[in-house]
Amino acid sequence: MVRFALVFKGRRSSAGALVSPRAMPQMRGVMSEPLIIALDGPAASGKGTLARAIARHYGLAYLDTGSLYRGVAYLLLRAGEDPSDAAAAEAAARRFSLEAIEGADIRTREVGAAASVVAAQPAVRQALLDFQRDFARRPPKGAKGAVLDGRDIGTVVCPDAAVKFFVVASPEVRAHRRFLELEPGRPDLSETEVLADLKERDARDAARADAPMVRAEDAELLDTTHLTIEAAFAAARRVIDGVLRRCED
Ligand code: DC
Repeated sequence: MVRFALVFKGRRSSAGALVSPRAMPQMRGVMSEPLIIALDGPAASGKGTLARAIARHYGLAYLDTGSLYRGVAYLLLRAGEDPSDAAAAEAAARRFSLEAIEGADIRTREVGAAASVVAAQPAVRQALLDFQRDFARRPPKGAKGAVLDGRDIGTVVCPDAAVKFFVVASPEVRAHRRFLELEPGRPDLSETEVLADLKERDARDAARADAPMVRAEDAELLDTTHLTIEAAFAAARRVIDGVLRRCED
């Protein structure tokens, strides 16, 4: 069983736990603006699983923003282009659409590595920013809000998000989870290689100049190393419900 451990070390803002001061207008009374929940953190920390469960539970739309960077990387690799070629990467990001990658296998090790290279390029990030913000502000299918997961949602894409989480887990546990996901199609792959990949990507995602992976100061820290998915979800729900209750007061 995959276990997640949870540690809450969120800094309390003057407006109350977890509620970003900038988010207060959207949270007052009956919410007139979409409820936005941001989850950031390194690869395989559990943020995607949590984000999907949160979206389902609260009836919110869900966007895996990593899939956008993976999609751009996939299109480049498929065209035989170099993901570190800034002009080619920007052009691919500008013509990117979710339809263009429908059915494509973007969860491979190669696409993940190329996505991290593509994501370090400011022009690519800029090209994908409007798509992400539009999704959050006008969630599809009339949903009353959106859950976005990525690396810079709480800091750059949706700094006004009502609830923010920074989800982490030990590198070894994350490598084990990712290994279990990848291994069925890649019997040649070792867990040690997956761990090395993750560490390389973490370093690149955290060190880049533009929108690096960093915990927003008003984000709750969730350490999922020793927790089951259910336990991590229950803990996230307690936090979200607390925010929603305060907003109804
Ligand atoms: O979450 P993921 O592994 O699918 O993300 C793929 C790459 O995209 C990852 O290396 C970092 C990048 N990314 C990003 O820079 N900003 C985001 N909001 C989401 C992902």
